[in-house]
Amino acid sequence: VTTILTANPAVDRTTPYPDRLKPILSRAAGAHAAAEIASWPGYAPTPLVDQPELANEAGVARVVVKDESGRFGLGSFKALGGAYALGRILAAEVSAAIGGPAPSMAALADGVGAAVTGNITATCATDGNHGRSVAWGAAKFGCKAVIYVHGTVSQGRRDAIARFGASIEVVPGTYDDAVRACAADAARLGRRVVSDTSWDGYRDVPRDVMQGYGVMVAEALDLWDGPPPTHVFVPGGVGGVAASVVAECWERFGPARPVVVVVEPTAADCLRRSAEAGLLTAVGGDLDTIMAGLACGEPSPLAWEILSPGADAFLAIDDDQVAAMMRRLAGGRPPIVSGESGAAAPAGLAAVARFPSSRRAIRLDRMARVLCVSTEGATDPEVYARIVGVTPAS
Ligand SMILES: Cc1ncc(COP(=O)(O)O)c(C=O)c1O
Repeated sequence: VTTILTANPAVDRTTPYPDRLKPILSRAAGAHAAAEIASWPGYAPTPLVDQPELANEAGVARVVVKDESGRFGLGSFKALGGAYALGRILAAEVSAAIGGPAPSMAALADGVGAAVTGNITATCATDGNHGRSVAWGAAKFGCKAVIYVHGTVSQGRRDAIARFGASIEVVPGTYDDAVRACAADAARLGRRVVSDTSWDGYRDVPRDVMQGYGVMVAEALDLWDGPPPTHVFVPGGVGGVAASVVAECWERFGPARPVVVVVEPTAADCLRRSAEAGLLTAVGGDLDTIMAGLACGEPSPLAWEILSPGADAFLAIDDDQVAAMMRRLAGGRPPIVSGESGAAAPAGLAAVARFPSSRRAIRLDRMARVLCVSTEGATDPEVYARIVGVTPAS
């Protein structure tokens, strides 16, 4: 097994959350996102689950898992981001077309502006969960959706997207290739791109996506009982959800914020390599990993603006470590259904906890209180059953 821990040499742990980062992510914009999202049918904060045995094994005081498996019936925190950003786009389009203030998302869902939204096609690339969020949002808010997947996105994940009435485009290559194909077609065909990653000149939508994720982080810190977490482990794909963790923690707690560790697959550790190099660094190749949601070779520059000064460490782990943690959580007390990308965070903790030198590097001691974000449940039940040996239902 390979475990590579890189302490972030650029981290700033002395100043409060900088004003220059607030136009990207802020608690004020997060309150707006929370109010909109709370109006969607079926909204409920996802639970925090104490895992005393994991804490014991890791030699820390407490391990708490934020369990996103039940999020809006979509199975991952991604339900919050893409659908929220799409709602913002549609509300602005309706306001521009018929005048007056932007309608609320509850009003959009009730059919306000349907004549406008019905002519709009939303589009994005996905390795499964983001596309499911955008397709679900499109169904809810009354627009069309075309979702791009690359060849290794599982059939179960494609079907879950198509179930919301979206059409699926399959493109060769990786997630990063699908991002480019989607944007090129959208420019030609007049579709609205709802991407979870950013690029030059394309920042507002991925900013809203990340602000939607921030609702999950705020829930976790609001629901937390007792002294706040000293450490947060979160998975990294393009870096969006990790940036939302850093921003919320930094603005809430300032320099006393928890240590944030971003966990990636060794085959796609673009964020860790960026920290090591001190500049945005891409990973090439086929990015082969079971952690489908983390199989991203190119960081989001917008997320990196927050992660570069704000994340404490980046950790690359192997598929075997994640598979073992999925089984461990399935048999845990209480059991948690954690998918291939979701289990990366607790697997990262277990990997670091074994080595005194890596413990020291992130100041992990017996008093540590660790929040691990399990970002998904069994988003492909067949894949889950193959890895864990039992079905998610059982
Ligand atoms: C379950 C899950 N966890 C984590 C991530 C990583 O999120 P980000 O790409 O914002 O870093 C993803 C991305 O698709 C995901 O689906």
